[in-house]
Amino acid sequence: MLVKSAEFVMSNSDVAKCPKNRMPEYAFIGRSNVGKSSLINMLTNKKSLAKTSGKPGKTQLINHFLINKNWYLVDLPGYGYAKVSKSSKQTFQKFITQYFSLREQLVSAFVLVDIRHDPQLIDLEFMQWLGENGVPFSIVFTKADKLKPKAIENHIESYKSVLLETWEDMPKYFVTSSSKDIGKEDVLGYIEGLNDNMELSNI
Ligand code: GTP
Ligand code: MG
Repeated sequence: MLVKSAEFVMSNSDVAKCPKNRMPEYAFIGRSNVGKSSLINMLTNKKSLAKTSGKPGKTQLINHFLINKNWYLVDLPGYGYAKVSKSSKQTFQKFITQYFSLREQLVSAFVLVDIRHDPQLIDLEFMQWLGENGVPFSIVFTKADKLKPKAIENHIESYKSVLLETWEDMPKYFVTSSSKDIGKEDVLGYIEGLNDNMELSNI
């Protein structure tokens, strides 16, 4: 899929104030610093559309970006960042939970995990929560430029074996690198397929 236009629409901390139209949307979630905002910039070919930082805790709100004037990418704050104060952590958690529980336009979430790390409890628990709440998701392994192909394969295999302890099937997954432009067509092609299905089911 060709991204012809990508525009920032709004930031807010209240799911009730998110765009009211019925365009499909896709949300990026995962630990702070995993590369959610960078992935949005890679997918849209715009280096500074979503704000990124070397320090965790950069994205603090629900951010809507309108793509090709007919669907949204949504950048969310990360979880698991120890230095965020307890009260702001609770606020994030509340609006992230509300976003995933209430946002009817959400077609699928992408849970980002750093390909270099072994499966982390916080990510596994979050995926479990999405499953229990009926939110479809796929996994995006990020920062693939940091590992050699064989190590990537090994990490994915070990991730699979952990997930298959609780899931019947391995969720769909993508291997990406925002700095080396890896995985862009895979993710965009997947979204395009879901968008087409949505249009068919609306006929
Ligand atoms: P929060 O908004 O704080 O939750 O973080 P985030 O998940 O949006 O991460 P962000 O995109 O801001 O990236 C965090 C850091 O990781 C930045 O220094 C990025 O340059 C770096 N980074 C992101 N993606 C990649 C990647 O694919 N490869 C490499 N090498 N670095 C990356
Ligand atoms: Mg961010």
